Amino acid sequence: VDFADQKVLRGTGGEVHQVATGKSKPLTTAQGVPVSDDQNSLKAGRRGPTLLEDQHFREKIFHFDHERIPERVVHARGFGAHGYFETYESLSDITAADLFQRPGEKTDVFVRFSTVAGNKGSADLARDVRGFAVKFYTKEGNWDIVGNNIPVFFIQDAIKFPDLIHSAKQEPDRGFPQAQTAHDNFWDFISLTPESINMALWIMSDRTIPRSFRFMEGFGVHTFRFVNAEGKSTFVKFHWKPKQGMQSVIWNEALKLNGADPDFHRRDLWDAIKMGDYPEWELGLQLFDEDFAEKFDFDVLDATKIIPEEEVPVKPVGRMVLNRCVDNFFAETEQVAFHTGNLVPGIDFTNDPLLQGRNFSYLDTQLSRLGSTNFTHLPVNAPRCPFHHFQQDGHMAFHNPVGRANYEPNSWSGEEGGPREDPKRGFASHPEALEGEKSRVRSETFADHYSQARQFYISQTEVEQGHIASAFTFELSKVETLEIRARIVAHLRNVDEDLAKKVADGLRLKEMPEPIEAAMPTKTELKT
Ligand code: HEM
Repeated sequence: VDFADQKVLRGTGGEVHQVATGKSKPLTTAQGVPVSDDQNSLKAGRRGPTLLEDQHFREKIFHFDHERIPERVVHARGFGAHGYFETYESLSDITAADLFQRPGEKTDVFVRFSTVAGNKGSADLARDVRGFAVKFYTKEGNWDIVGNNIPVFFIQDAIKFPDLIHSAKQEPDRGFPQAQTAHDNFWDFISLTPESINMALWIMSDRTIPRSFRFMEGFGVHTFRFVNAEGKSTFVKFHWKPKQGMQSVIWNEALKLNGADPDFHRRDLWDAIKMGDYPEWELGLQLFDEDFAEKFDFDVLDATKIIPEEEVPVKPVGRMVLNRCVDNFFAETEQVAFHTGNLVPGIDFTNDPLLQGRNFSYLDTQLSRLGSTNFTHLPVNAPRCPFHHFQQDGHMAFHNPVGRANYEPNSWSGEEGGPREDPKRGFASHPEALEGEKSRVRSETFADHYSQARQFYISQTEVEQGHIASAFTFELSKVETLEIRARIVAHLRNVDEDLAKKVADGLRLKEMPEPIEAAMPTKTELKT
């Protein structure tokens, strides 16, 4: 330790006082008042009680007492970094989004990787989906791709999200397990939710134990829309492909790493960036139009399905480089607020019922997590382009309207009148034609739950298939209720008989359960 710029004194109790001289800044209170002694509270007599008038002591303890905010209701454990996105070529023929207009254009980004189910202090190598959330600070506002490292999801409709997450997190009576898929409630929900079987195959694969964040793919999951300046819409799926390649650990390694260093993934990203070994991903797009979408055997609005890359190849359109660690974990990584609703002109939603629900959830949860409607004023969340609106007041308002006008239309002109609408560049929703009766009935085009699970399993190498079978066996062996184990095997029989048998043998099931009676028709079969 270099004490050159400090004077070190000993107090009467032997305590160390480091006194500011020269280079080090003087310690102050939050009000900016210099502090004379940070080691001792003010007391009535040397051995007497602490005095209420000690403002420094009270302010310090008061602030400490309120340091914690609620952790995210999901994806509580995460790690963020700054970087940039570089556009390869102009995509003006398919999207009016400003960041895709000029080759070589660089856009600032902030990325947060996360696990889903574990609490904030859980271990990095848990078998879990990883969040892959990217905020682009574009010249026309913030755009977020709030994705995962798995291209499909557990459920088709956001109304099931609370049930899914309740089942995945610790059980309400016992408060454990913390971050494991290995428990009754989780597998009970999966076994009673046939749409989740495709995702179940993916999460039992090596993808849910990545070697580090740097070696994972990312996916926007839902089908979105690109809209060009003429109003033409194209469906788009977003992919992040790691330049480092894809790597996972094996389960044995994951268990050891979790014990030896529960911060393994965050330390890996921090170290790589600090050493100048900047991780890089390419953004790839799958683009197709509505007529093409009609031809698929599944519904492109169903988030439990992928668009096969053989049928729609992924087109690389830019690269993302992470080159700066955060200055402060809480201010940036904890307070960053991603939202599927953060879109910019040229990009739009589809009617995917999972996406539609997410569009409500993020803003809502962030009010409760960050405590004020003004969380967009925090530097990590604020746009880096000019922004002007009439939203005002509320807790912690930093960007209130300046001047007289805080409403419109108004009679004031020029600057005094405040900001105005821009029909040309402003965000306009794609004018999709809609009709039909209000209904809760799910479309039959969402009903085939096994074909893609089977395709995924078959696409794996023999070693990877072995890992999937072992993962199912391990996780289900922790499930105490035998009917639940059998129900999962009954689903697996609709995916692959060999896999079902391996898991049944691994679990020493007395008899093979009948396949679940849910071999649903594909979209094409429905039509005929
Ligand atoms: C957080 C992805 C589905 C509600 C997150 C985060 C990611 C993510 C990456 C962490 C963001 C961060 O790092 O701060 C996804 C994906 C989904 C999905 C890929 C499906 C395709 C849903 C659904 C809901 C939901 C259906 C609710 C209806 C939330 C909430 C948070 C969250 C409440 C916490 C946000 C915060 O506190 O800032 N999600 N999610 N998610 N997600 Fe999702």
